[in-house]
Amino acid sequence: MPGRMIEVHDLVKVYDGRPPVLNRVSFSVAMGEFVTIFGRSGCGKTTLLNMLGGLDRPASGSITIDGSELTSLNEDQLAELRLRKIGFVFQDFNLIMDLTVRDNIALPLRFSGRKDKDRVDEMLREFDLRHIASVTPNRISGGEAQRTAVARALMNEPKVILADEPTGNLDNENTEKVIEMFVRARERFGTTIVLATHDLSLGRYSTSKMSLDEGKLSVEVGSDPPV
Ligand SMILES: Nc1ncnc2c1ncn2[C@@H]1O[C@H](COP(=O)(O)OP(=O)(O)OP(=O)(O)O)[C@@H](O)[C@H]1O
Ligand SMILES: [Mg+2]
Repeated sequence: MPGRMIEVHDLVKVYDGRPPVLNRVSFSVAMGEFVTIFGRSGCGKTTLLNMLGGLDRPASGSITIDGSELTSLNEDQLAELRLRKIGFVFQDFNLIMDLTVRDNIALPLRFSGRKDKDRVDEMLREFDLRHIASVTPNRISGGEAQRTAVARALMNEPKVILADEPTGNLDNENTEKVIEMFVRARERFGTTIVLATHDLSLGRYSTSKMSLDEGKLSVEVGSDPPV
């Protein structure tokens, strides 16, 4: 379908000896949409985002990101796709512990061969991280680590942001800041955003709301229907 940034069809994920975490899940996300995914702890939000980012493989089904079908790609091609097109905010941040906050944020630039000190400075300023720019992540707070992870995900102006509970450690002010940066990326670059959260209030920023429960995904009324 033209204009679709993410297409998921009949996706199944099973961990050994358990009922499927994702049981024939299908949906699609248009370019520039802001999707929130809700659901109780353990319903499969992280599992789904990891598969959308090509970090984990499904038992069956297909995932297409910007025209590339992920199961047809090898690990190198998946890494390349992530680097070029996806900004991932991990639930547990996944910061590199022996790099400073500044170097963690600049990491996507290093891999893509770009040099853009101004952009790193802008991110440090936007996310109020300048005071800890030269510090390693073991000496910063949970909220500072979360903001560092979000800044890193936005660094390369990705087409798609996959954000796993990106405001879980933040106060209201910083939650607003993170969401504002996502909304701004959407407005400026047409970035597509998929955000998993427990925070129902974040639904008001989204163009489409989905919920996961017992392996099934439902799309709320008023949102695009699944394909
Ligand atoms: N590597 C794994 N091996 C086996 N089971 C797993 C693995 N990872 C996750 N699970 C199980 O799959 C289910 C979904 O986990 P997942 O982390 O996707 O949930 P979640 O919706 O992100 O939860 P939370 O809101 O707590 O972050 C859980 O029951 C979990 O125990
Ligand atoms: Mg999770």
